[in-house]
Amino acid sequence: MTRPVLWFPRRLSDATLERAQSKYDCIINWQDGLSTPGEIVAMSAQVDGVVPCHSEHFTADVAARLDPRLKIIANHSVGVDHCDLPALKARGITVTNTPDVLNDATAEIAMLLMLGAARRAVEGDRLVRTGSWDFWSPSFMVGKQMTGARLGIVGMGRVGRAFAEKARGFGMEIHYFNRNRLSAEQEQGAIYHHSVENVLKLSDFLSLHCPATPETTGLMNAERLALLPRGAVLVNTARGALVDEAALIAALESGHLAAAGLDCFATEPGGNPALAKFDNVFMLPHIGSATVQTRDAMGFRALDNLDVFFSGSAPPDQV
Ligand code: 8YV
Repeated sequence: MTRPVLWFPRRLSDATLERAQSKYDCIINWQDGLSTPGEIVAMSAQVDGVVPCHSEHFTADVAARLDPRLKIIANHSVGVDHCDLPALKARGITVTNTPDVLNDATAEIAMLLMLGAARRAVEGDRLVRTGSWDFWSPSFMVGKQMTGARLGIVGMGRVGRAFAEKARGFGMEIHYFNRNRLSAEQEQGAIYHHSVENVLKLSDFLSLHCPATPETTGLMNAERLALLPRGAVLVNTARGALVDEAALIAALESGHLAAAGLDCFATEPGGNPALAKFDNVFMLPHIGSATVQTRDAMGFRALDNLDVFFSGSAPPDQV
């Protein structure tokens, strides 16, 4: 039997590519650059499956032009907002993602951003690094304490719950909004609210963990940012589309928000240069799941889906 052909538009972990090559014929983009829509369409005529990241966009236009040879998009990501699911479904293409395996790594980055934003990491690091630290006082670089503070979580899926678990270690009082209330076992004492707005009103810290969908795009707009208590800290490790960046900048400028920690932006790669002037914004370049263990686990989960699909069954993580 001929081996299915897979395309890896990005350089996945060595262990992933090694395992893939033991079972499939693989076309690997070793240069690791981004592919244009035209390149994605052209490649679809040469492969049975593709293993993209969130950086490869399968829009409705791309979906309509894909070659019928391509049967499965086995994403190396939990988020699938880069895929137009109805358009791909209409073309009979199976789409999978990689849930669960990145919960802890992403929750760790959310914690890093929350701590960094709250305790002025950008400012402090620059001061020491540039040799301009020439003064100390008890009133110097005073930040916001997380321990005992109220944390709002929007989206209590797997990553939100992993983050809540870590935040409990800081003694935070956890409030959350989710489409559905969790079981008491999953809540672990977190307090459920029927609306995002109610969570915002009491969040000293707010962390976003919901997917980007038409309903959540622009979720944190000027009106909702204004509901946060003055001096709140916003953390986003989910998707840039959730935050209206112009409104965020206005809230930082007015001092309504004390700080923000961001791992995702409306424009990626690149981010938003207008945020660079804020020392109270701690930013990272979308590396929430970037640990050795998690990259391997994501790659293996994508391959598990492909193995099941090519054996003739429905893959476990079909979306
Ligand atoms: C990834 C992500 O960095 O899983 C997601 O949805 O955004 C990130 O974990 C990326 O897609 C890696 O392929």
